[in-house]
Amino acid sequence: MSTIPYGPEDNVFVQEHPLIKHKITMIRDKNTGTNEFRKIIEEIAMLEGFEALNDLPLEDVEVETPIEKCMSPVVAGRKLAIVPILRAGLGMVSGITSLVPSAKIGHIGLYRDPVTHEPHEYYCKLPSPIEERTIVVLDPMLATGGSASDAIRMIKEKGGKQIKFICIIAAPEGVERLHKDHPDVQIYIGQVDRQLNENAYICPGLGDAGDRIFGTK
Ligand code: PRP
Ligand code: URA
Repeated sequence: MSTIPYGPEDNVFVQEHPLIKHKITMIRDKNTGTNEFRKIIEEIAMLEGFEALNDLPLEDVEVETPIEKCMSPVVAGRKLAIVPILRAGLGMVSGITSLVPSAKIGHIGLYRDPVTHEPHEYYCKLPSPIEERTIVVLDPMLATGGSASDAIRMIKEKGGKQIKFICIIAAPEGVERLHKDHPDVQIYIGQVDRQLNENAYICPGLGDAGDRIFGTK
């Protein structure tokens, strides 16, 4: 495990909650099967999302209690967009929609070249208008940072402004790259690991997140 020279003042938030740490240990285990892996990814996304969305805009509505009428806050409608990076980010979507069922969902398709480790774009569809929304980009793994950085660049090119990124495991190299490329983006991280290996996989990490979520190899 590692530490990084960034904190909330740099828009980098590393989660300290014991339940998140516990669940990350469970998904690291190579003996955790697809079913359980998927379920835990969803739970961690929900716990991290709860923290990341603590500044969602509210609006007052009138409600009648058994005692009297009052004005009371609700989350302002149609303001949130969730954007998973395909494929592995898909596993985190239901964790966030369980918190904000009205969120719109976009998709960005990127895959890493196995030799260069550079991301290649194959799909981008975002809810419109994107300019007015808080956008939460999801990917469990922040390795070199190339995929997250490119996804956020694509969102900005389409007009996205207020962007948060939630990942579960990050390498220090990825945090540095993403923070350098997009210092305005809030980065939420479940755990920072030691380093990347020669194949740009996170050590100790959890292996290939997409393969473990979808049961492919
Ligand atoms: C994985 C992961 C991230 C990316 C992280 O996806 O889900 O998107 O790698 O690596 P990076 O920070 O070095 O860019 P992958 O490209 O393996 O595609 P997949 O989700 O379709 O398996
Ligand atoms: N993508 C993954 O799924 N795992 C890693 O460790 C790095 C990139």
